[in-house]
Amino acid sequence: MRFDLVTVLPELLESPLNHSIMQRAKDRGLLEVHLHNLRDYGAGKHKQVDDYAFGGGAGMVMKPEPIAACLEQLLGERQYDEVIYTTPDGVVLNQGLCNQMSLKENILVLCGHYKGIDERIRETFITLEISIGDYVLSGGELAAAVLVDTVGRLIPGVLNDETSALFDSFQDDLLAPPVYTRPAVWRNLPVPEVLLSGNDKMIQDWRHEKSLERTRERRPDLYGKFMGE
Ligand code: ADE
Repeated sequence: MRFDLVTVLPELLESPLNHSIMQRAKDRGLLEVHLHNLRDYGAGKHKQVDDYAFGGGAGMVMKPEPIAACLEQLLGERQYDEVIYTTPDGVVLNQGLCNQMSLKENILVLCGHYKGIDERIRETFITLEISIGDYVLSGGELAAAVLVDTVGRLIPGVLNDETSALFDSFQDDLLAPPVYTRPAVWRNLPVPEVLLSGNDKMIQDWRHEKSLERTRERRPDLYGKFMGE
């Protein structure tokens, strides 16, 4: 799977995608991430990529020409399944959307910055607008990193234990159960006995029960959905 990320701040995206599971995915040839500096497509001596908003108001707007030049170059090189724009007014990312996206081959992501991009770019190129939550980031780069991470780890072969993503929180609309490791007693706090029993059926039942309990307490919205309410 290939991601192309278009940004005015490629430095912000380098580190989060060069470690741990993302690096392993790349090393295994399962994930490619290409960063494109929008400034390379800016005009004039200053490589300008933003300008004042028509109608006034605080904040700069990303100009259409450099974005169009960059996107058109990439679109001429390969077919993209989605051209995504990261923005707080997009659809809120969830695990279902990540699952769907992990089946795609090529994804192009334009990171919003400043006050946003000229609306005509959205109308012309963008197939999907994604928000990572109801809050405002300084730019769309961190949202793009979240997107690559959440989708990238779902590509078959990326996680060592293929089943482990299946038991993540949200995969079945429930939060994950608590987990424990050694020592079996720490500061007088014992691990729940059932986890030491070796009885797989009992352990699975306990985990499911804890998932339900945790979801009911912390996320009544998800719990209602799970219960079909
Ligand atoms: N850019 C600024 N805030 C954002 C958010 N919450 N999600 C995606 N992109 C953003």
